Amino acid sequence: MDDKGFSNAAPGNAEADKLHRRIQTREARIGVVGLGYVGLPLVRAIVKSGFSVVGFDIDPKKVEMLNAGRSYIHHIPSAMIAELVEAKRFRATANFSDIEAVDAVLICVPTPLTRQREPDLTYVVGTTEAVAPYLRPGQLIVLESTTYPGTTRDVMKPILEKGGLKSGVDFFLAYSPEREDPGNAEYDAARIPKVVGGDGPAALSLTRALYDRFVAGTVPVSSAETAEAVKLTENIFRAVNIALVNELKLVFEAMGIDVWEVIEAAKTKPFGYMPFYPGPGLGGHCIPIDPFYLTWKAREHGITTRFIELAGEVNTSMPRHVVEKLAQALSDRQAKSLKGARILLIGLAYKKNIDDTRESPSLKLMELLEARGAEVSYHDPLVPEILSLREHPEFVGRRSVPLDAAGLKSHDATLICTDHDGIDYRLIAAASPLVVDTRNACARAGLHAANIIKA
Ligand SMILES: NC(=O)c1ccc[n+]([C@@H]2O[C@H](COP(=O)([O-])OP(=O)(O)OC[C@H]3O[C@@H](n4cnc5c(N)ncnc54)[C@H](O)[C@@H]3O)[C@@H](O)[C@H]2O)c1
Repeated sequence: MDDKGFSNAAPGNAEADKLHRRIQTREARIGVVGLGYVGLPLVRAIVKSGFSVVGFDIDPKKVEMLNAGRSYIHHIPSAMIAELVEAKRFRATANFSDIEAVDAVLICVPTPLTRQREPDLTYVVGTTEAVAPYLRPGQLIVLESTTYPGTTRDVMKPILEKGGLKSGVDFFLAYSPEREDPGNAEYDAARIPKVVGGDGPAALSLTRALYDRFVAGTVPVSSAETAEAVKLTENIFRAVNIALVNELKLVFEAMGIDVWEVIEAAKTKPFGYMPFYPGPGLGGHCIPIDPFYLTWKAREHGITTRFIELAGEVNTSMPRHVVEKLAQALSDRQAKSLKGARILLIGLAYKKNIDDTRESPSLKLMELLEARGAEVSYHDPLVPEILSLREHPEFVGRRSVPLDAAGLKSHDATLICTDHDGIDYRLIAAASPLVVDTRNACARAGLHAANIIKA
């Protein structure tokens, strides 16, 4: 027992004990379902720790690429996938009957919002229904996707138990939220502790035994619901703090104070302050989405989540603020209107050094600028072409334009949306008639000039 009363011992159920031994000897075969931004790094961490992994995905193109040793995610090199495949430690499949052959199934499928901005559990339910026919005694099923408290026990468990097997007795069900930070070289999957909550003590004990083999350590909590709540708390904390700093940006801007300078100075306080940075709006599949999983669930309990809603409002208003700032600068400095202006947008990904464009504020900016009559092109070395977009299918097929002096001069303004490393900010500042910088990228590169404004 640890000091919180969680046991590290073998579960004490015959099926669970068998799996526990297979985990200890690394004979257990691991299945990872959903081979995306979360699933692939997880595969790498598990294989590195000595297990063999079967990856499951419904996208046959991804399966084919992985088995050919090719990656489709910028920060996961193909060589790494090829090494795992060649060593016969990893293979991908779209065939769910192979679930029967694995001992543990870790599920990392998308959890987006519907058009009405409510939780869309289609992928979680679809995966659980695909796993259920092949569920056998002694298996461990772990959900990793971000979701509202109750999903593992109230949504997944009844589907899995339909065939007659009982959770906690015949098979084991747990929730362990993913904390992947794509593009963060300092913290990869193996270096981030994982929170674990089980449907019963055997599930908790097995999940810990497994994850302790390939992550920096597990943090047990008393239930799957608590673990689900932990993940939402982490992301809501970010959403609210980003909204706060976005609001401060507007206030300080009106007072002629640079919010970036304020943050740099504030973060020298060694306690009680943590820096968050303003930007053109929220992006990615987590921070703009996850808080509304809780908002939705809270309504069931008659509670309104005013803080979360307010943060959402502030954050979603940021792209409009940027567009206004750009329109004003064009008018003041070049006596031009947005209508007919040529705007070059730098960075399409929702954050630096990754190729993920999901919910990217750059797309919202493109939409707003074009609605005002501007002609918009983009440069993003990590997104050479817009391949598919759930939210903005009208942009699919557009291609990144080269970044050179002639191209910059031919645009009325350059709008820095994503501060990828490796972009030549010096060239942008030198050749562009007007630079609107939403990330403080120019100042961080030591560039201060009259044609650069912050937004
Ligand atoms: N990307 C991140 O940084 C991150 C961080 C923490 C948590 N999360 C959460 O992890 C989950 C997965 O996110 P992601 O970014 O990896 O998504 P993703 O879109 O990159 O990957 C999901 C994969 O699941 C596959 N898939 C969809 N339905 C399937 C099904 N029924 N069976 C098998 N495969 C299926 C898709 O083809 C895709 O390859 C989400 O809940 C997300 O909120 C993501």
